[in-house]
Amino acid sequence: MVGWILKKILGSKNQRELRRLSPIVRRINEFDEQFKGLSDDGLRAKTAAWKEELSKIPVLDDQWKKLDEILPEAFAVVKNAARRLKERQDSFTVCDQPMVWDMVHFDVQLLGGIVLHRGRIAEMATGEGKTLVATLPLYLNALTGRGAHLVTVNDYLARRDAEWMGQLYNFLGLTVGCIQHDQEPDVRREQYAMDITYGTNSEFGFDYLRDNGMATTREQQVQRGYYYAIVDEVDSILIDEARTPLIISGPATISTHQYDRWKPLIEQLVRKQNMLCNRVASEAIEKFEQGEVEIAGRLMFKVKLGQPRNKQLLRMMEDPDKRRAIDKAELSFFQDTRKEELFQLKEELFFTIDEKSNEADLSEQGREFLNPDDPNAFVLPDLINEFTEIDLDPALSDEEKDKKKAERQQHCDAQAERIHNISQLLRAYCLFEKDVQYVIEDNKVVIVDEFTGRKMPGRRWSDGLHQAVEAKEGVQIDRETQTLATITIQNYFRLYQKLAGMTGTAETEAAEFHDIYKLDVNVIPTNRPVRRADANDRIYKTRREKYNAVIKEIKEAHAKTQPVLVGSVSVEASELLSRMLKREKIPHNVLNAKFHMQEAEIVARAGQPGTVTISTNMAGRGTDIKLGPGVTELGGLKVLGTERHEARRIDRQLRGRCARQGDPGASRFYVSFEDDLMRNFGAADRMTRIMERFGLEEGQELEHRWLNKSVETAQKRVEQRNYLVRKRTLDFDDVMNMQREVVYTYRNEVIDSEEPRKLIYEVIDEAVPAKMKEYLDVDEPNYAGLIHWVNTTFPLGLNKEKAEFETRSVDENAQFLVEKIKNAYERKSAYEEPTAVKSLERYIVLNAIDRLWQEHLYAMDALREGVYLRSYAQKDPLIEYKTEAYDMFVELMANIKNEVLNNLFRSTSNLQAFENFLATLPQFLLREHAPTAPTAGAPSHARQPQPVGAMAGVVAGEGDGDGAGEVSIDLPIRRSIPKVGRNEPCPCGSGKKYKNCCGRVA
Ligand SMILES: Nc1ncnc2c1ncn2[C@@H]1O[C@H](COP(=O)(O)OP(=O)(O)OP(=O)(O)O)[C@@H](O)[C@H]1O
Ligand SMILES: [Mg+2]
Repeated sequence: MVGWILKKILGSKNQRELRRLSPIVRRINEFDEQFKGLSDDGLRAKTAAWKEELSKIPVLDDQWKKLDEILPEAFAVVKNAARRLKERQDSFTVCDQPMVWDMVHFDVQLLGGIVLHRGRIAEMATGEGKTLVATLPLYLNALTGRGAHLVTVNDYLARRDAEWMGQLYNFLGLTVGCIQHDQEPDVRREQYAMDITYGTNSEFGFDYLRDNGMATTREQQVQRGYYYAIVDEVDSILIDEARTPLIISGPATISTHQYDRWKPLIEQLVRKQNMLCNRVASEAIEKFEQGEVEIAGRLMFKVKLGQPRNKQLLRMMEDPDKRRAIDKAELSFFQDTRKEELFQLKEELFFTIDEKSNEADLSEQGREFLNPDDPNAFVLPDLINEFTEIDLDPALSDEEKDKKKAERQQHCDAQAERIHNISQLLRAYCLFEKDVQYVIEDNKVVIVDEFTGRKMPGRRWSDGLHQAVEAKEGVQIDRETQTLATITIQNYFRLYQKLAGMTGTAETEAAEFHDIYKLDVNVIPTNRPVRRADANDRIYKTRREKYNAVIKEIKEAHAKTQPVLVGSVSVEASELLSRMLKREKIPHNVLNAKFHMQEAEIVARAGQPGTVTISTNMAGRGTDIKLGPGVTELGGLKVLGTERHEARRIDRQLRGRCARQGDPGASRFYVSFEDDLMRNFGAADRMTRIMERFGLEEGQELEHRWLNKSVETAQKRVEQRNYLVRKRTLDFDDVMNMQREVVYTYRNEVIDSEEPRKLIYEVIDEAVPAKMKEYLDVDEPNYAGLIHWVNTTFPLGLNKEKAEFETRSVDENAQFLVEKIKNAYERKSAYEEPTAVKSLERYIVLNAIDRLWQEHLYAMDALREGVYLRSYAQKDPLIEYKTEAYDMFVELMANIKNEVLNNLFRSTSNLQAFENFLATLPQFLLREHAPTAPTAGAPSHARQPQPVGAMAGVVAGEGDGDGAGEVSIDLPIRRSIPKVGRNEPCPCGSGKKYKNCCGRVA
């Protein structure tokens, strides 16, 4: 109450914030007035002057301060330019359509621009002209020369907006680029080099992955940093898309799945369960008729557990009495005291299905059916216990213990794989419906995004689920793929120094934007008052009645040529509506966000008299709907939602399709008790009571604003749940993200380094002492092992006597060895072409990183899968994941370093240099050796399976006065090696005598 009064007096936080911005808007308009007197060139000159000035400020923070300072003037320049374009009336083409510029920024648009510049989200209703708003901050931030990005939801919009707004940028002397799916790297690089670049989130993200995970030279990289980005339709990109990460993958080398093998059994099992549920449902009906309501309720609840979409069950739910009995049974079973009974009930089924959490769980019966001989085949063994038992067994030697443990581990893995396969198949059969969650196209399972209804070819469910669905549908089961590089959209956008977003619908998700992205939302008022009439929801008992009512309303509107836009939540629903309309002979268009460009054209026409357009949520988003002649008088565009979406935001988005820029418009949602939202999250109890009170008859509807509230409560509940799920995903991904940052930073350091040798020496400095500790800093120092390692890795030809490891401390030994290795390396590389050596050195490190990082990604995938099983053992999977991921990462970094050491002497830049090198070696140091193919400029071959230096304890040089006598290098050699006399010119081409040059003993 107090809060409400305060709000009245002070205005909401949002209003206060906006009020504070209004003086800036005034200043912009003052400058705009002033600039009217300038010539075109005079106005344009401002751009160059600011760019010049900003280029002299080295520190980013200082540049930002400068931008804040010039904001009013710079925004005014843009607005002024827009006015000039409008006055000119020049024609240009956007996406092959002729166009004329007709916009000058409104004040609310200036306001939106300021909010975007400040790194916030501007919520501006659909049709308010966000495309134009973005030009202001993009222009301002591009002045730094660091590149400003605008992120759109599809390629078509990227191109449209770049070409359209490009008029303005070009007028002002800024360049604009646009990333499109089919561009080659060279073209992409040019686009990124522009002052402003438009593109989709996935193109930006994939370019990042290619640049940082795959490119091996600076020249191959296309992006140039992450400075400022505005994300259009930010809710769609940061919230809806956030759950599917971008993945670059190749086929995995091994595939272990057994989906084919289990499919027939699972099919039988599902059939058996469905038969069982049908039987139980019939029994329930009988009991109801006999008046045994409680027993009947219990039976129906059982059906709900086993087959939530059972037809008889759904029909019974239409009857308030029966519905109440079922709800009552369900409620009572979830009481703590009846846990045992609930368990019993589940055991009467073969498995249980939980639609809310998308899980399927086998019961004892089910397990027995699948493997009658060994029901335990689907239970994970208690490894910890088994290990302890093995450890305590005195009859076993250490070796035997290890072997036994390995066996048990293997057994456990096989078990886990089997359980995993089975449960994925069950989910595929019971929770994933064809034409709802996926469609079959060209013999492939194509995912349909549940939020947008968009098909997502190429994307696959992870965790083997996709394969399970492939098995179910009898299409080819594609090989499991291995991740080569991956990032979630969130984490890509976190790379930007400053991020901003705009959308028509952000407010309901403001908390999430704040918590996860540190993005605050400002709601910008509309330019003209909104004239949309939002009617109360209409609620029906069944889907059938609901759809009939929708068709009726479409017919009525169509009869008076009022255009109608019908929103659907799934492709299936769109098709159903379309069939019904065909029967009524009402011409219409169906969109499901597949062909962006054509769809944009169709949506653009959705406001013409007499059109009926059916569209899934995402289709045509971002496209302007202009009203045709006479439509305003008919009440504008009518929007009908055929189902409440899980998220209120998506519903608001649909509503916003009409009544743009002060147009009239109307919207209404149709809901039925059979909708998923109502079944799973509706306040079922309350609904039942309402149904009873009103005695709903066939075809009757409910309508009251209180009911809208109930629906909204259900939506809020789902939103909350989904938020937690996303946050959880993010928590997991955070771990990977930190690792990726470390690895990619290191990788880039290698690519950029002018002196890669420094990096290699760093590796030596770190890895050698670590190895030394491994061998020596233990109870029983392993000198022989150490020498073996040294000699198989470095061409030092050490032996026990020469090395005298026993005489020094561990640290001194490390020091000693590091010096020797560097020394040898200097000698080796002195005979090679300097530029070639550099790229070779880079390759040595990059190769090590890439190969091991990919293995690491694979292992992390497996860890993430496996860690969920631990929740059965009362452990928090996230904590387990973090700990193990950390250990694995430490190991990865150590392995990378060791790999670098291993390859250091195994590669050489080119054959010629290599021969030169050999030629210079004192002959007695060389042994003949079967050539093992030097790696002439082909660094990818630098790794050889066998250690080349398999010559431990080789005879060292005969006292060249060089300490422990190195250069006994075991490299492939040629037979005819020209001998170089000590007084002859050095073969390295220096012009000095050999003895004074390369032949000089260090
Ligand atoms: N200042 C302006 N003066 C005149 N017309 C404008 C102005 N700003 C925008 N418009 C017009 O408003 C229409 C909608 O613009 P735009 O598509 O940018 O809106 P939006 O806010 O991005 O909507 P959506 O949420 O659907 O993406 C366009 O036809 C555009 O030409
Ligand atoms: Mg838009």
